[in-house]
Amino acid sequence: MKLRSILISVFLFAFVNLSFAGSELATVQNIKAAIKGETTASAKYASYAEKAKEEGFEKVALLFEAASKAEAVHANNHRAVLSQLGESMNDFEPEFTVKSTKENLADAINGESYEVATMYPDFLSAAQTDNVNLALISFNYAYQTEKKHAEFYKKALAQLEAGNEKQLPSVYYVCSTCGNTYENEAPERCGISMTPNDRFITIK
Ligand SMILES: [Fe+2]
Ligand SMILES: [Fe+2]
Repeated sequence: MKLRSILISVFLFAFVNLSFAGSELATVQNIKAAIKGETTASAKYASYAEKAKEEGFEKVALLFEAASKAEAVHANNHRAVLSQLGESMNDFEPEFTVKSTKENLADAINGESYEVATMYPDFLSAAQTDNVNLALISFNYAYQTEKKHAEFYKKALAQLEAGNEKQLPSVYYVCSTCGNTYENEAPERCGISMTPNDRFITIK
């Protein structure tokens, strides 16, 4: 009899703990991680832009500024989703290190590549499983944008190494809805969120 009641208590204890662990969806954790990642990327790229200016790489500075604005759009979107889910997160300080512009570009390529290859695909599939439509939209906006950022940064590093930095684009447009980033010219509507181009942010 005693053993039976012990077993029942152990079972109940495990059950209560499991239900607590399950009360926070994987997607809520993922949104928090994405807010941290995007907020940090935005602050980091703004500092990388300053460093690029100091080193005389004005065109690379423009790219970092544009991407910084795009990451801020992603962070704001993710924050909006978190609050729609009735959740909140603790404040944090973005942590990063500023090195030379070449190293900063290599770091940016690494960051964007991780988001494109691993982070956002994982977050998107969890959001599908958890059936959180707003997270699917917000993660997809970021995912589609980071694919372009990764390519822009690769091109910038190649041009910098070839001594052709001056040939990089001298204007960028960032969609204020989804962060989509265009170089040189903007289409009438954003190719990701269909936002009309009068709501794009110009960086030149
Ligand atoms: Fe982003
Ligand atoms: Fe990005």
